[in-house]
Amino acid sequence: MPNTYAAITGWGACMPPAILTNDDLSTFLDTSDEWITSRTGMKERRISHVTAVELSTVAAKRALACAGLDPADLDMVIYGGVSNEELCPNSASGVQLALGATKAAAVDLNTACTSFCYGLATATAMIRTGLIKNAVVIGVELISRYMDWSNRNVAVLFGDGAAAVVLQASDEEQGMLGAVLGCDAEARQTLRVRGFGCGYSGYGITFGDTLWDFDGQVIFKRAVQAMSHASVKVLADHGVSAEQVSLVIPHQANLRIIESVAKYAGIPMEKVIVTVQKYGNMSAATVPVALVEALESGRVQPDSWILMPAFGGGLTYCSLLVKWGKRVTPLGTSDAALPPATQTALEMVNTIRAGQDPHGRSKAGLMAPVFTEQRLAAK
Ligand code: UT7
Repeated sequence: MPNTYAAITGWGACMPPAILTNDDLSTFLDTSDEWITSRTGMKERRISHVTAVELSTVAAKRALACAGLDPADLDMVIYGGVSNEELCPNSASGVQLALGATKAAAVDLNTACTSFCYGLATATAMIRTGLIKNAVVIGVELISRYMDWSNRNVAVLFGDGAAAVVLQASDEEQGMLGAVLGCDAEARQTLRVRGFGCGYSGYGITFGDTLWDFDGQVIFKRAVQAMSHASVKVLADHGVSAEQVSLVIPHQANLRIIESVAKYAGIPMEKVIVTVQKYGNMSAATVPVALVEALESGRVQPDSWILMPAFGGGLTYCSLLVKWGKRVTPLGTSDAALPPATQTALEMVNTIRAGQDPHGRSKAGLMAPVFTEQRLAAK
């Protein structure tokens, strides 16, 4: 029996139009364009006026049109990300409904910033083992809604966005052929969004009122280490040299992290897709949005090797090795689009800020829960 592979046959992004600049951020935070640009490479990011399910649906419709696939033929919708309007029902079921993908299973997959890559690995494995044939994998975030906009350590770093790919069973050797997946859980407390989850119930906290634990320097070092080692390992495991890699599409958390990983892996920056200056860190959406931009700007070559290293809360990490197929152009286009935004990005952020408790009353509750590692330490 021939091997089955999971070809990437469709791709589409959905970027909200409203732009929040570094100067916008300095209207309410003690920060500057100079600090943000020099420390992160970021100049601007997007703020969404619609829900994450709407962003995902438009991205998925574009990806399906690109693949020429009817949503009714989908077996699986994977919604990768941390941004859920609700936990029950899950977000993937909302996308399944909006697409009319009535035959598809619907799964939310949360490994924070690596969610899209983990989703791609999961769907690929399901296709390669014959469990399913056609899947859409989404990477999406709507971080603006639960950002702590009073904290300059994190508020300047993140943005909203979405993109999706379609995977289809193929007997040609292509798609994701290798992956190193892991989790540096020892440092999981260095990136925590307080306010979500059962641990906070009963403390009078409203959704969107968060406190972020974020030890930037530790995360930075561990991100470079994990993405670099995973990249070198996945290449060695599959006998692919750094020279053979045509493109690196990394998670976009910080330009300096990307440069360090590329250097360690021995791949020049000319081969690296960088979007961090335009979109900031969109967590799970960074890799698929950068992939779509690479395809749309003609940077993906037929039959080429692509490396996708990523890192995020957990602290989860991965590096995927993808062999692109022959086709680098869409089979069709979709007319799906977002409604126009009626507010500027800064107006939307100011609205969210106004809804966050200015007196810190509910923030007290955010400190209360006892977390796993504290319980373990107490044993
Ligand atoms: O996607 C998931 C994972 N996320 C990441 O991988 C992010 C990893 N970390 C980073 O990218 C970097 O650590 C940051 C960009 C977050 C911070 O850069 P840094 O060079 O590590 O800066 P720092 O945290 O050491 O802060 C340096 C100074 C501090 O002031 P003092 O103590 O030296 O007086 C901060 O208070 O910069 C200050 N600072 C700011 N100043 C202006 C922190 N944030 C800001 C800000 N504007 N937004």
